[in-house]
Amino acid sequence: MVPTIPTVRLNSGYEMPVVGLGTYARKADPGQFRQAVECALDAGYRHIDTASIYNNEEEVGEAINNKIKQGVVKREDLFVTTKLWNDRHAEKDVVPALKESLERLKLKYVDLYLIHWPVSVNNKGEDENIDHSETWRGMEQIVELGLARTIGVSNFNEQQLSKLLETVKIKPAVNQFEINPTFTAHNLVDFCKKMSIIPVAYTPLGLISEARPEFKGVDVIKTDPKLGEIAEKYKKSRAQIGLRYLVQRGIPVLPKSFTKSRIEENLNIFDFQLTDEEMKIVDGYNLNHRCVPGLAFKKYKNFPF
Ligand SMILES: NC(=O)c1ccc[n+]([C@@H]2O[C@H](COP(=O)([O-])OP(=O)(O)OC[C@H]3O[C@@H](n4cnc5c(N)ncnc54)[C@H](OP(=O)(O)O)[C@@H]3O)[C@@H](O)[C@H]2O)c1
Repeated sequence: MVPTIPTVRLNSGYEMPVVGLGTYARKADPGQFRQAVECALDAGYRHIDTASIYNNEEEVGEAINNKIKQGVVKREDLFVTTKLWNDRHAEKDVVPALKESLERLKLKYVDLYLIHWPVSVNNKGEDENIDHSETWRGMEQIVELGLARTIGVSNFNEQQLSKLLETVKIKPAVNQFEINPTFTAHNLVDFCKKMSIIPVAYTPLGLISEARPEFKGVDVIKTDPKLGEIAEKYKKSRAQIGLRYLVQRGIPVLPKSFTKSRIEENLNIFDFQLTDEEMKIVDGYNLNHRCVPGLAFKKYKNFPF
């Protein structure tokens, strides 16, 4: 049975399904993104997260258009996000950058367009340090042109968001950043909510996923018996408990998977509810450990972390 996915209302008035398929992968075989997105849409996902830098917009768009043609989904029932890369922050570049993404996706509009990082870099790798209010004017033109229904940011810290909010005509609706049981990010989550900005969790599985051997040593959450007991109680996996914990905090999640069983598993988190005590246990795994420290951007003035 295909589950119904709850949605959250954005300050733009549009609804975002609280689980979306993440599509970033360092390595992928040809066709793997297309297969994952098709599998997700068959499983009931209606929210897909991509970015121009992921180099997969063609495959993501192909999958979406295939499923529309097959009558599995309608465009108006989907929520598609893509993102502006760091080399297109100049106001004049923003609309053309999204038009190029739409061309690759073969879509007329996206539901959400995000500034991917608060850093701007030219093609020589030098810091351009473009003011976010300038980039945002380009983002606002996108809404006026109907190329994106909603606009937002990603990886912005509290100071960067506060400053941006002083000059905007259209408020950002979303800040997408890392949130998971070992990086709980309470301060930024609370700030976003106070500002009517929805915090969206990337890398929502973080250290829970056994598919990430690179974090060996800080991954006690994979073996901790208390989490095992909670999972056992609800007949769910540790990953599902981690995703449920975020959704119960009011945070939409974007788990990525290429594996059919996991794609299905990650959507199947709406038939149980964690108790307050269980929420505290999961929250207690916080290590302030970022799986995505963004070190490549550390040398730039607007590095957010
Ligand atoms: N805005 C940004 O700067 C930014 C940064 C990072 C990520 N993101 C977005 O957020 C998405 C998710 O982040 P992420 O890909 O870094 O991390 P993630 O979704 O937390 O974890 C992905 C890893 O977990 C595995 N996995 C998936 N479901 C699982 C399950 N049920 N049990 C165990 N392992 C599972 C996947 O393996 P398999 O594929 O082998 O199943 C993959 O190795 C990205 O794909 C991207 O769309 C955005």
